Amino acid sequence: MKKVGVLISGRGSNLGALIAAQRDDGPYRIALVISNIEGAGGLARADAAGIATLVIPHKGKTRENFDAELDAALRASGADLVCLAGFMRILSDGFARAWEGKLINIHPSLLPAYKGTRVHERVIEAGETRSGASVHFVVPELDAGPVIAQASVPVHPSDSPEALAARVLEIEHQLYPAALRLLAEDKVQLEKGLAIFAEGAR
Ligand code: GAR
Repeated sequence: MKKVGVLISGRGSNLGALIAAQRDDGPYRIALVISNIEGAGGLARADAAGIATLVIPHKGKTRENFDAELDAALRASGADLVCLAGFMRILSDGFARAWEGKLINIHPSLLPAYKGTRVHERVIEAGETRSGASVHFVVPELDAGPVIAQASVPVHPSDSPEALAARVLEIEHQLYPAALRLLAEDKVQLEKGLAIFAEGAR
């Protein structure tokens, strides 16, 4: 059973999916939820599930100092793994390296396409016919780590960014627990910059 720390900044619907998929006899247990934003919706979800929460504001701190606080809180919780779930802060290279292979993120595009922000707007502007979501290992370069799992959805010509975001979010909620389970069961690992899967893991 791996202990997991989840970092959020907002409503935390992906956190909700990770909580919903958690089982007493499953491979992971969420030990701590940290938000950089006070009052983030995800904190209430964690509270309701009896999971410890912590707010670590980023304002007025250097990136390194903020990340050092995150790291200390995660270590104190006994976290083995860390999930970014709508965590809207760029992490320092040092933090990414310290948690290499144990730190994963969900991003609402078919990476390596559409890294960064305003993903759904850009996908629609480009006339794409499919988009999706990716769970990937976090490396120092933004949204560039090896992909663990991906799922795709159609983009309709009439889509607004909000409509597309909602369609993608639905599959995020399937994808993230499945990817975390793979990692927690040691069925995927980061090795020399590649996601390596155990036999039969995909
Ligand atoms: C999700 O769509 C997630 O993929 C995205 O933020 C949303 C958070 O929603 N993450 C990123 O864009 C990271 N670059 P949630 O708070 O309801 O889980």
